[in-house]
Amino acid sequence: MSTINYSEKIPNNVNLGEDRTLQRALEQWQPNFIQWWDDVGPDGSTNFDVYLRTAVSVDPNGWAQFDHVKMRDYRWGIFLNPGDAERKVHFGDHAGERAWQDVPGEHRANLRRIIVTQGDTEPASVEQQRHLGLTCPSQYDLRNLFQVNVEEGRHLWAMVYLLHKYFGRDGRDEADALLQRTSGDANNPRILGAFNEQTPDWLAFFMFTYFTDRDGKFQLSALAESAFDPLARTTKFMLTEEAHHMFVGESGVSRVVARTAQVMNELKTDDAAKIRAAGAIDLGTVQRYLNFHYSVTIDLFGADQSSNAATFYSSGLKGRYEEGKRGDDHVLKGQTYKVLEVQNGQLVEKDVPMLNALNEVLRDDFIKDSVAGVGRWNRVLEKAGIPTRLAVPHKAFNRQIGALAGIKMSPEGRVVSETEWAAKKNEWLPSADDFAFVASLMGRVVDPGKFAGWIAPPVMGINRQPVDFEYVRFG
Ligand SMILES: [Fe+2]
Ligand SMILES: [Fe+2]
Repeated sequence: MSTINYSEKIPNNVNLGEDRTLQRALEQWQPNFIQWWDDVGPDGSTNFDVYLRTAVSVDPNGWAQFDHVKMRDYRWGIFLNPGDAERKVHFGDHAGERAWQDVPGEHRANLRRIIVTQGDTEPASVEQQRHLGLTCPSQYDLRNLFQVNVEEGRHLWAMVYLLHKYFGRDGRDEADALLQRTSGDANNPRILGAFNEQTPDWLAFFMFTYFTDRDGKFQLSALAESAFDPLARTTKFMLTEEAHHMFVGESGVSRVVARTAQVMNELKTDDAAKIRAAGAIDLGTVQRYLNFHYSVTIDLFGADQSSNAATFYSSGLKGRYEEGKRGDDHVLKGQTYKVLEVQNGQLVEKDVPMLNALNEVLRDDFIKDSVAGVGRWNRVLEKAGIPTRLAVPHKAFNRQIGALAGIKMSPEGRVVSETEWAAKKNEWLPSADDFAFVASLMGRVVDPGKFAGWIAPPVMGINRQPVDFEYVRFG
């Protein structure tokens, strides 16, 4: 059952037609979703025909089909990876038992909370990115932005399906609330901090898709291990879509860096003012954006020590990244993990029970993964003969959540006073001046094959189309 039924109002591979009550409930939610898309989705895009991929099957080979479609006609639907009737819980206190096809009563509140928190991030990012289309650096990039946006919309559908199908009245209320909160709204904000920040320009968008969509990858990977089988199967399919979002971020930053390096070589300078005057983004600004998005994103993993994290793991709700590939006992009782703590104004390492430190374990896995791409950006600089290197800041830099929130830290990992922080903040995080400069570069470039002057063209187009393909028809 991997082929998707597109003949129904809501495309799905879950035999939705056999559950009339659920089908009706979701069909009632559908117009509210479209209303949300019209209200706070991509600005001014209603008449565009966008070269989008749509899932036709959840098979690894050939799940995607590309075509020019209007975004509000995108076939948002419900796609789960194929089930395995024999699947067993493979970590925590229920290890070895059959995976759950329904929600056990005692885990209902926690599972609902996990699904709502994940679901809330999906529409949030669409809202954060809604004005970016007006200042796209090319048709190619505009298309990528829209692809990310429609897929985040589909991720919302994925979580709403679980809420409607498994959580009754509460689930339906939560699904409605997902369309009512709004990113950055003072009265009814999105749940997590990073999803209430602005994504004011395309450099921020690329950093967001590189770092914050990667948080999505790690959260979804941990949920893909869940004993609650429908959640595991849903998140597995979401992960295949997430890969493209991180590609957009990694290649986007890489192209910005390539263009900057080219200008630096042409002008034989590393003077930020001269590089800016030539219309490229100086590497100091790129580093400050990186510092901001990295620190805000690692906060998303939550407090370094958390009894909830222990409960979620032991009860089988949420595993670790690549749980199945780990060689330990998958129960973790009596094991320890090192976390950082502030003592007398200094950072010290401390051993704590591993079960309580699972947020930190996931954060550290994320850090390893995200550092790898930064290395690939540095190779662009290396190849161009530029000695500057980009780096992720220290884990304790600019943290707002957990034990490290109580300390001021330089990006290199030196504890600093409030006075030094205030004096150096604009060297470490994007300043009003940086934002104004990057904003000044954001013009709209939409002629096929043309690119804004601050970003290099990609090496290849999408779906083996040429770079100057008509990715968006403006109608
Ligand atoms: Fe997503
Ligand atoms: Fe994403």
